[in-house]
Amino acid sequence: MFNLDDDESQRKLALSASLIAVLPVVYYLYRKVFSGVANSSRTSTSNSNSTAASLAAQGQTSSEQKKETKSIMQPARADLAPPKDDPFTQEQLKQFDGSNPDKPIYVSIKGTVFDVTHKKDVYGPGKSYNVFAGKDGSRGLGMSSLKTEDAVPDYSTLDEKDMKTLNDWHEFFKKRYNIVGRVTDLPPAVADKLTTSL
Ligand code: HEM
Repeated sequence: MFNLDDDESQRKLALSASLIAVLPVVYYLYRKVFSGVANSSRTSTSNSNSTAASLAAQGQTSSEQKKETKSIMQPARADLAPPKDDPFTQEQLKQFDGSNPDKPIYVSIKGTVFDVTHKKDVYGPGKSYNVFAGKDGSRGLGMSSLKTEDAVPDYSTLDEKDMKTLNDWHEFFKKRYNIVGRVTDLPPAVADKLTTSL
């Protein structure tokens, strides 16, 4: 390939040899410097594509992501009371929708009744998520819908994706709110499921 007697060829040979030696080092340094940047941009992309529910779940279920992104959702609580099993009909649940300031605010998901009183700022009257207060609005939570007509307990026709969203919300609430009871008169289509899935 090279005529080693030729000065020019010897120079080329030396140059090639040094390039071969240096390139892996440059590549290694490049990976080390830029890997942090690549990771953080990947995290923010996945967040921007997420629903509110999976965003919430991400903030808690992946410790790796927790280190990299600060969740906007309230953190899980370590001081929750043991769950209660008090029975509520849907009619009884209505009085806990925040309209009476002397009563607690309850939200039910898949028949589990959570006490959300300390988050009056989001579940109180006129607030963003008041549509879920004093009722079981599982279907709307699964659909990521704030419409009153969707905030109903029958989630039996949700597709797999919305069902996952609903289950993520159930997990989110379980980690943050005290369970005060369960709804006893859910529509048969979901009441049957609950005995096997919860
Ligand atoms: C533009 C759309 C939305 C934005 C910007 C948004 C923003 C937020 C923020 C900032 C929080 C944290 C609130 C806090 O802890 O004080 C939150 C929580 C929440 N969001 Fe949304 N949200 C949106 C849409 C929705 C939709 C469509 C639903 C319907 C299911 C929903 C349901 C919830 C629920 C249930 C919480 C949990 C509140 C809690 O108990 O801490 N969000 N959202």
